[in-house]
Amino acid sequence: MRPSPGEVQRITVMGAGTMGHSIAQVFAQAGIDVDLVDLDETALARAPGLVEANLRILVDAGRLASHEIPTILGRLHPTTSLAEAAARAEFAMEVVSETIAAKQAVVNAFEDAAAPDVVLASNTSALDLFTQVTAARPERFVCAHWFMPAYIIPLVEVAGGPDSSGDSLEWTADLLRRIGKQPLVMNRFAIGFIANKVMMAMGAAAEELMDDGAATLEDIDFALKTSVGVRLGLVGIFQSLDFNGLDLIAEGTAEMGLEVPPYLKEVVDQGFYGPKTGRGFYDYGGRSEREVVRKRDLAYLAVLDALEEADAFSPL
Ligand SMILES: NC(=O)c1ccc[n+]([C@@H]2O[C@H](COP(=O)([O-])OP(=O)(O)OC[C@H]3O[C@@H](n4cnc5c(N)ncnc54)[C@H](O)[C@@H]3O)[C@@H](O)[C@H]2O)c1
Repeated sequence: MRPSPGEVQRITVMGAGTMGHSIAQVFAQAGIDVDLVDLDETALARAPGLVEANLRILVDAGRLASHEIPTILGRLHPTTSLAEAAARAEFAMEVVSETIAAKQAVVNAFEDAAAPDVVLASNTSALDLFTQVTAARPERFVCAHWFMPAYIIPLVEVAGGPDSSGDSLEWTADLLRRIGKQPLVMNRFAIGFIANKVMMAMGAAAEELMDDGAATLEDIDFALKTSVGVRLGLVGIFQSLDFNGLDLIAEGTAEMGLEVPPYLKEVVDQGFYGPKTGRGFYDYGGRSEREVVRKRDLAYLAVLDALEEADAFSPL
């Protein structure tokens, strides 16, 4: 029987490359033993050293005690035997190369050897996974999409295909919460998930600017880092519009001869313009505009201090 997420003691991570070693590290830091599987002996041999270097960064940043490093590294078990790892896995992350052939090979091999109720999650970035890869137990096959560097970035996008069970998705999200991540369970799977899809739209706009000769790529990075880069971490896209004033956004859209999208029209028609009316896309819970703006601005200043301290406005 599948353990509860809090009881999981041993998992399998398939693929020990750029993402795999770091994902394995996060589970090991949370006290879970990890069989780290790769076909490539060189990748397997390199992984513990990469994890150790990451852990030293956490020590230098004051987020880990150095005496914990050997214990965490001791929870990593590199192996080329997927069958042996799968047989004892209570959960698995598929983090192999982004090809349908590689994904299908590990899904087949894992399902052949694993207990039938074990959840298998894929870290694919861009494949139409549930169409292109077939699982024998599709109800326990989900996506859990991490971000690089996996041991630092909080979000993991969790999404299911047409046959993934709600229970598998929630169970995966609970396990990710247990290891300190911020899982987001999407309503349904979409190629590119949320964050990368939005980034791709930004990339297309940036390309247009370069093609037009309006800006260089360095200009574009600098402009984003010193403007929306400071804001996005606090307000995302839609709450940022709340602060602009949704009435203004709707008027401006109409003024440009464009149709006001239904999700915007709906709130504006109700008089929800943002903090200035106590509610926009978000409900400000009876707080005054001044109170909300003060909280926002103190947070922006804290972000700005941190970015300046990290010398973030120069190229890395
Ligand atoms: N690199 C990123 O920034 C990033 C971010 C999010 C998601 N992803 C996704 O994570 C997955 C892995 O990406 P990566 O950047 O870590 O790739 P990578 O090339 O660094 O590592 C992939 C590893 O998989 C191993 N592998 C290939 N076939 C295998 C098999 N049949 N059995 C066992 N191991 C096998 C390879 O030897 C390699 O070590 C991909 O699906 C990718 O799209 C990558």
